Amino acid sequence: MIETEKLTKIYSNGIKALNELDLTLNSRISCIIGRNGAGKTTLVKILSTQLRQTSGKAMILGYDVINDRHKLRKIICSIPQEVKPAGISSPLEHLVMYLTARGFSIKESFNLAEIALKEIGLGDFMETPTDELSGGMKRKIFVAMALASQAEVIFLDEPTVGLDPISRLEVWGAIRQLKGNVILTTHYMEEAQALCDQIAIIDKGKALKIGSLNELLEPLKGKVRIEGIGEISIGGLKISYVTPDEAKELISKSSINGGVKISVKPVSLEDVLILSGVNIEES
Ligand SMILES: Nc1ncnc2c1ncn2[C@@H]1O[C@H](COP(=O)(O)OP(=O)(O)O)[C@@H](O)[C@H]1O
Ligand SMILES: [Mg+2]
Repeated sequence: MIETEKLTKIYSNGIKALNELDLTLNSRISCIIGRNGAGKTTLVKILSTQLRQTSGKAMILGYDVINDRHKLRKIICSIPQEVKPAGISSPLEHLVMYLTARGFSIKESFNLAEIALKEIGLGDFMETPTDELSGGMKRKIFVAMALASQAEVIFLDEPTVGLDPISRLEVWGAIRQLKGNVILTTHYMEEAQALCDQIAIIDKGKALKIGSLNELLEPLKGKVRIEGIGEISIGGLKISYVTPDEAKELISKSSINGGVKISVKPVSLEDVLILSGVNIEES
């Protein structure tokens, strides 16, 4: 569905945000994960035809992001990072404005807006000034926009950044209701794990790994993460990956020696990032 080839973006200040990025995404919900500054927003802007790459190629559903941009703009919807609604307008007004701008008639826009808002759980708040809504509900307005747009490809850039845990769950529920192909960026590992069929880890403008969660966890199969001992050190915390039996042995040895406290945890996407060399502390 999305394919990039040696995609490079060098900003006018000389920063290379994307560095010959090769990426293929073909799942219904794909996720681009990486720490702040990894190049996620730059990538989404190029894919959604808002920014031109310096070199390389990017295709969406077979359409080139530069040559076929007019065609693509009709079939994609992009919700930018940290977008905020206008306080005095209601969710319904937001959606109707957006949909008429996309070319739907007023009547169609009202119709699609109401259906989407109900589907996403904002049915009772359609006409409430957005000032009076919670953070999660505010963000859901934009997910409702994407749903109502009937776009084939939807980009959500950091859709839950800054939200409290409950609001985040609500927005996740809304994202799951989206139709079409969804590409979201996040620096939250739980978000990628919870929502995405395919995860691309990017760092310094390059794709380090792409796969389903299971595929990414494959090298760590049969291992647990132990904290308190090991070669990898993150913020002073020592980590290593061992089998459960090895973990038991290490724990018993350490209690005999009256030594360090060792804790055992199941492996997760965070461990894939750690082993890819992404220093998540800088996030
Ligand atoms: N408009 C811009 N001009 C110059 N540098 C930029 C611009 N936008 C982003 N950058 C730089 O490009 C790099 C990637 O940024 P970005 O794509 O926003 O990453 P992410 O979304 O993963 O946090 C960062 O070093 C950032 O400072
Ligand atoms: Mg960003």
